[in-house]
Formats: sequence, C-alpha cells, structure tokens
Amino acid sequence: MRILVIGSGGREHALIKGLAADPLTTELHAAPGSPAFAELATNHPEYSQVDDPARMVELAEKIGAELVVVGPEVPLVAGVGDALRAAGVKVFGPNKAAAQIEGSKQFAKDVMAAAGVATARAEQITPGASGEDIDAALANFGPNYVVKDDGLAGGKGVVVTQDLTEARAHVDAVLAAGNPVLLESFLEGPEVSLFCLVDGETVVPLLPAQDHKRAFDNDEGPNTGGMGAYTPLPWLPEDGVKRIVDEVCVPVAKEMVRRGTPYSGLLYAGLAWGAQGPSVVEFNCRFGDPETQAVLSLLESPLAQALDATASGTLDQLPELQWKDGYAVIVVLAAEGYPASPVKGAVISGDAITDPEKVLHAGTAQNDAGEFVAAGGRVLSVLGHGADLDAARAGAYAVLDGIDMEGGFYRTDIGAKGHDQL
Ligand code: GLY
Repeated sequence: MRILVIGSGGREHALIKGLAADPLTTELHAAPGSPAFAELATNHPEYSQVDDPARMVELAEKIGAELVVVGPEVPLVAGVGDALRAAGVKVFGPNKAAAQIEGSKQFAKDVMAAAGVATARAEQITPGASGEDIDAALANFGPNYVVKDDGLAGGKGVVVTQDLTEARAHVDAVLAAGNPVLLESFLEGPEVSLFCLVDGETVVPLLPAQDHKRAFDNDEGPNTGGMGAYTPLPWLPEDGVKRIVDEVCVPVAKEMVRRGTPYSGLLYAGLAWGAQGPSVVEFNCRFGDPETQAVLSLLESPLAQALDATASGTLDQLPELQWKDGYAVIVVLAAEGYPASPVKGAVISGDAITDPEKVLHAGTAQNDAGEFVAAGGRVLSVLGHGADLDAARAGAYAVLDGIDMEGGFYRTDIGAKGHDQL
C-alpha cells in the first residue's frame, strides 16, 4: 500500500517508522516531511502548505496514494480529510466537522454535555465582552485559573495559573485576537493521554500515556506542547483504560454519530484521573506529540493495518492489538528559548541522532554541510525502553548524554513520579 503521511514532526517520524515496519506498506511519502525521514520515506518539501486541501489532494493523486495519514490537527480542521475523501482517497483522520472536537473547545463541551461525559465546569467569554463581565466570569473560578483559547493555538492556547492578573491578561490577549475564551475549573488528579482508534461507534484504545507539559523540572515554567512522556501508567487502576473507553470515548463516538458527523481517525482524550475516575481536560483530533513516539514504540501489531482498517470503516474486524512488554519513555530535547522564542540553527551531534530506534526528529533541518540543525522548538524526541519505568528512563537519559546541541535543554524528571501518582 502506498501511504502518504502529512506532517514533519516527531509524531510523524514515529508514524513513518511504524508504517515502514509493516509489510502492508509498499511505499511511503511525507508532506512536507523532514530530512530525517529520508531513509524511510520520500519527502515532498514543495508541499509544505499542509492546510491547503487542494494541494494535499494534488499530491495524493500525483503519487497515487492509497491511504493518507494526517498527522497534525491544522489540516484536519481545515478540511483536508473532506477534500481527500471527496477525491476518492482513503484518509486516516476525521473530516472537518468531526475535527471540531479539537478545533472548538466549546463544541467539545457541547458534545460531552450531550454524551454525559465528566469534564470541567466551563464558561465562555466572547469577543466584545466588557471588562466587568470578564472580571465577573473570572470570579466564578480560581484559585487555579484555567484559561483556554477556544480555537487552535498551536500549543499556546492554554494558561493555567494562580495569578489572577496573568489569567486576565490571557483572556484579553485571546479576545483581542478575535477568539472566544473558555474559563474552566481546575481538574485535580494526574493526567492521562489515551489515544483511541475510532471508526463510527467502534473504539480501540492504545496504551495509556502521561505527558509532561511544563517546560522545566517539577512542572515549573510555561506550558509547552509536551516535554516528555511515558507509557504505560503503572499507577492507573487495572480497569482504568476500560473506564475511559466506556465512560468517555464510546459515549463521545456515539454522540458524534448521532449528530451526523461520525468520527474516523484518532481520538485523543486528555484526562485528569481524579477521586471519581476520569474527567476530560480536552480532546484532540490526532495523535499526541510526544506521547505517540513512546506509545507506538511498544506496538507489536502492524500499524498500517490498524490505520487502514480505521480509514476503511472495518475497525471492528481488526485483530486485537498486541503490545510489547515493558515501558517506554520519551524525553524531548528543546531548543534554547523554547517555548517563547526558540533559537534555530544549533548543530546537533551524536551517533544516536540517525537511529530512529533511539531518536525521532521533531524539528530539525540539514545545513549545507549535511549536519542536522535545530529548526523548531522541540528538536528531538529521545526514546528509552526497559522492563520497568526506571530502566526506560535510564535508557532515554543515556541516549541524551551522547547528544550535543548548543543551548538545548530537557527535563530530567520525565516519568520520575510514574510509580506513585495516586
Ligand atoms: N502532547 C500534547 C498534544 O499532543 O497536544
């Protein structure tokens, strides 16, 4: 099967690595891709406008793609899935209407309310609201203020703070950009990222993971797209995944069908595991980054077969997914200045950087000398495996010890609290 993967980051590198290992895959392409993918896929850097449905259809038709796997949310929310399906190309990823589960926080809240899914209490503030109205709305929340841009914001939309002035400043900034704001109550409990393949009402969970969103150790510093992750979760109750599927993902999948916008693709449930069990923090309409790099590294079943079954509407016939034993840890090496203003161009060195079993490239380019250089905020996703979480952590940090990048930084505590979160 000839497969086109849309995207260029660490998540897409992990998808490409997984797809390349499946004998069902005969040819792999990436748009725009990344120099680091070149061993496994043909890059199409001239197709960098991944949110342009017509361009993506043009490329899919040009290469005769039999399946398109859409990595990031932006093309899905822009309707790339709809355009490809209209052109008769199979797609892994929801149509625009269903991608609203990530594209609009208020839409997700409405779906959850209709489906009876536990989530944070929320209040929307729309552009044009008076200062008094904003203050009155904020007074209904705290001491932890959760302030969200209602739309897509590339990982920069959410501020969680105890500082009312900072909360108000984020409300003002989002409204000034013309977007509604969602204020939410703070959900207590450790975070879980559960990715599910969804095809209508059929829901197949992958391994649960935990992301680390703050930039620095001990969950300090600004929110980021994610600085590291581990999987599975030793602290999650034995029935944890089943409860999330039964209480969250299946009701949401059914509600999407009921609305006439059935979901097809990857549903990412971001949850807090509280005293009563799972509550939804957010949904995403695609694989998470960096959790995917860890989760897919433990998948034993063929990835192309699983994504193709989802895209073909035959997920209910997919054999049960098989997983490797043990744990996986991903640690992100970020560029100096990330997340506010990452510095580009630092040369990256180390033997492991060309070994996708150890390192997946999230934001790199090649200079004229052929060296890999930092080209994004999150630069590398460094992988460790082990029979237990400590061994997996040690593996990832040992790989990082052999990598140099001027100004680069990473968290040293990814997975460190993984044993005793409850
Ligand atoms: N790791 C968070 C995300 O993918 O949105």
